[in-house]
Amino acid sequence: MPQSTQTVKERSSLTEFTLGIESSCDETAAAVVKDGKTVLSSAVSSSVHIHSKFGGVVPEIASRFHREYINAVTANAVKKAGLSLKDIGLIAATYAPGLVGSLLVGLSYAKGLSLGLGKPFVGVNHIHGHLFSSFLSEKKFSFPFIGLVVSGGHTSLALVRGFNKIEIIGKTKDDAAGEAYDKVAKILNLGYPGGPIIDRLAQSATDTPFKFRCAQLENSFDFSFSGIKTEVLYKAQKLKIKSNKQKAQISKAFQEAVVKTIVSKSIAACKKFRVKILSVGGGVACNSFLRQMLKEEGAREGILVLLSKNRFCLDNAAMIAAVGYHIYRKNGPSDYYLSASADAE
Ligand code: KG4
Ligand code: ZN
Repeated sequence: MPQSTQTVKERSSLTEFTLGIESSCDETAAAVVKDGKTVLSSAVSSSVHIHSKFGGVVPEIASRFHREYINAVTANAVKKAGLSLKDIGLIAATYAPGLVGSLLVGLSYAKGLSLGLGKPFVGVNHIHGHLFSSFLSEKKFSFPFIGLVVSGGHTSLALVRGFNKIEIIGKTKDDAAGEAYDKVAKILNLGYPGGPIIDRLAQSATDTPFKFRCAQLENSFDFSFSGIKTEVLYKAQKLKIKSNKQKAQISKAFQEAVVKTIVSKSIAACKKFRVKILSVGGGVACNSFLRQMLKEEGAREGILVLLSKNRFCLDNAAMIAAVGYHIYRKNGPSDYYLSASADAE
């Protein structure tokens, strides 16, 4: 039967097991998800240890790593799920946004598998994956919700009314939240990726004499993090920082300002759109202080905050498989001509 003439019910019965493929940045990931919800396996191989020598992701190295590992990572995910490729009903892959050379590896691989196995293929937007990632751990998930994505490449707030009813209401005007963490870590000579290091260091400081502030962009859900990064740079240059104590105090002050801004904009968005659920994803959502503040403010305002598990906050393919399953159920397969794109569309 041609895929486009199948009903929603027929499509779901044929796609019990979705294979997700994610290769938008420096993680080569594959996962198998059952019925768009239950994660049977999630395999991730990261090239971050190579990029850390350069202080950031080197696109050509990332693409080559994907090409080298995608086959093994996929085979591993399928095996860990207790399945073989012939059991897979649907293949979902990230097509945008991200590094084009990296996206192309996963996308082309997914299309090849789809053609070879005679199973449908669906393209998924990476940001949508992060928006719905808490879906993989939470039972209370329902529409509408405000979705917050804070990662190394993206900072977005969205009003989400359905799997394909997503309205971006705010995004960063310059650096992404994770990018700011990574750049501040570089200024303080802490290593890459900076987010987890600053998170740990900030916890080690009991107080801080420093105070930083993010540009607030009043009456807007947009963000700006490049100013605070420059503020940290000037402070670090002026003080000629060497001691770990000072680095920890600067980290704490920087983190407090960033988290405060993210939390206040997210809660304000929930209030403006009268939405009682906030779903949070992206690598920065692993941040312990952000998680604590979101829970506290959410409880105070009567907003249910759904936080992804750490392994689903970071780039992974389970979120791509889950979203792909629901998009396929609604819209059917993607065209094989769907191309990789650096931008969100
Ligand atoms: O979602 P992700 O794996 O990749 C992108 O789509 O960008 O996010 C990676 C980003 C990096 O910038 C990293 O520094 C940041 O997430 N990150 C954190 C933490 N863990 C990872 N930022 C703050 N606190 C953390 N604990
Ligand atoms: Zn991501």
